[in-house]
Amino acid sequence: MTNSTSTLPEWKHLGRLAQSAASVTECTQDAARNDRLTLHAAGIDADLRKQRLSNEALDGLLELARAVSLEDRRDALLRGDHVNTSEDRPAMHTALRTPAGAGLASFEPHVQAALAGMHKLVDKLTTGELRGATNRAITDIVHIGIGGSHLGPELAVRALPGTGRFKIHFVANIDGHAISTALAACDPERTAVIVVSKSFSTLETLRNAEAARAWFLERGFTAMDIARHFFAISANVQEAARFGIPAENVFPMWDWVGGRYSVWSTVGLPIALACGTKVFADMLTGAHQMDRHFAEAPLTENLPVLLALTGIWNSNFLGASNHAVLAYDERLALLPLYLQQLETESNGKSVRLDGQTVDVQTMPILWGGVGTTGQHAYHQLLHQGTRAFSADFIVAAKPDHHLEDHHRWLQANALAQSQAMMIGDEQPQAEKRVPGNHPTTTFVLEQLDAHHLGALLALYEHKVFCQGVIWGINSFDQWGVELGKRLAGPIYQQLGGTAVLNQDASTQHLIGRLRASQTND
Ligand code: F6P
Repeated sequence: MTNSTSTLPEWKHLGRLAQSAASVTECTQDAARNDRLTLHAAGIDADLRKQRLSNEALDGLLELARAVSLEDRRDALLRGDHVNTSEDRPAMHTALRTPAGAGLASFEPHVQAALAGMHKLVDKLTTGELRGATNRAITDIVHIGIGGSHLGPELAVRALPGTGRFKIHFVANIDGHAISTALAACDPERTAVIVVSKSFSTLETLRNAEAARAWFLERGFTAMDIARHFFAISANVQEAARFGIPAENVFPMWDWVGGRYSVWSTVGLPIALACGTKVFADMLTGAHQMDRHFAEAPLTENLPVLLALTGIWNSNFLGASNHAVLAYDERLALLPLYLQQLETESNGKSVRLDGQTVDVQTMPILWGGVGTTGQHAYHQLLHQGTRAFSADFIVAAKPDHHLEDHHRWLQANALAQSQAMMIGDEQPQAEKRVPGNHPTTTFVLEQLDAHHLGALLALYEHKVFCQGVIWGINSFDQWGVELGKRLAGPIYQQLGGTAVLNQDASTQHLIGRLRASQTND
């Protein structure tokens, strides 16, 4: 694609339609349009009727998708072309959930071997065949990883029922409170540490892994003992070995899987440990069903495509600068954080594939939380704030508890909130007025199980890809995170007094302020 997005006639046409866009309520009065915005894929029902989208605008968006050859680009992604152009790699997260016998020859053997190895480890730890250095069975897992090497596993472990066999302590932050709190809750004889880092060079992960190793050493464990307690998931086996983790305890990752797309790989080990290998397999199946839908459904019925297109419509044409993920399920508390990394690290870009600066807005701010608790916090802003936004509601039809009345109230509130965002309230008193007319989508999962969670996460992955194609950007790199990492090194030295550098006035002042507390101690 060489034309910038905004010069496409399809883009300009959408711009004209947006000038006179009907309200959400008006749009919902068109029965034919409503039918087009009610979709089903991989067990997920999606109601996009509360979008501020007319039949005509929907047609225009589909034309835009065709103009950027979305289907060809999707096919290129799925067959393993090097769609991550700046790093010259494929992005083959879909291969991780393709069933044995149905995958591409260049990926499947790696995927299946890694899965088999992971299952073996889970079995051995579960049965007690594999024990700690003092022959005690492992009960606690300290999971050390950050970003894509953390968010997916913790989301799934919190969302899905556990077997109770292992307690997983997730540690991501360099903030020492995280690792010290986790270790304080563990008995070293019964604890295994899983270090998850695709690169095995991430500061937070390495420092936390070192702290965990020191914790064992301080408690009388030798380096050889520790080797029995440490496992790694990494594409950098050499570095893991240098750290002291034996090769047989290192599970592979590959450069063709991006960190934020890696929960389906051996990165999912804590899910298999906490919830069982069957649960992890069900997650893969749910995701694979969504992949099939994405690959096969016509554009007009393709849920990830329509989700992407409505997002483009809302943010690029209706001015929604932020997107709220409102999960009406306590178990999905981490979903907004997970999607924040997935969507914003993927599509928070301003350079196009051809190296030119993008001339349209890309990823809006993504945030969110769980209902109904959010209703007593930030929903005031959603109902009466000044900024345009869009929102996704996620609701499970059936709960996993017996408090039916609670669940009915939860559902009633989810529907009431999306209704309020649509219809608003024309009160005579200005302070009480609610403008409404905010576009929302509601997803209904029959229940929140591994299958539906897998399908839901894959749905968002494909939405991200489609939006990246339309914005003309590479969704699979993340160069923007490097500068901060580079600057932290010298500041760290200066805070420790081992370097004197010329910093800007503010940073210099703050370093001085923090050093003053160190010397006063
Ligand atoms: O700093 C960003 C990032 O590279 C993410 O993309 C990634 O998920 C995270 O850091 C962790 O990286 P790694 O798995 O290599 O430790």
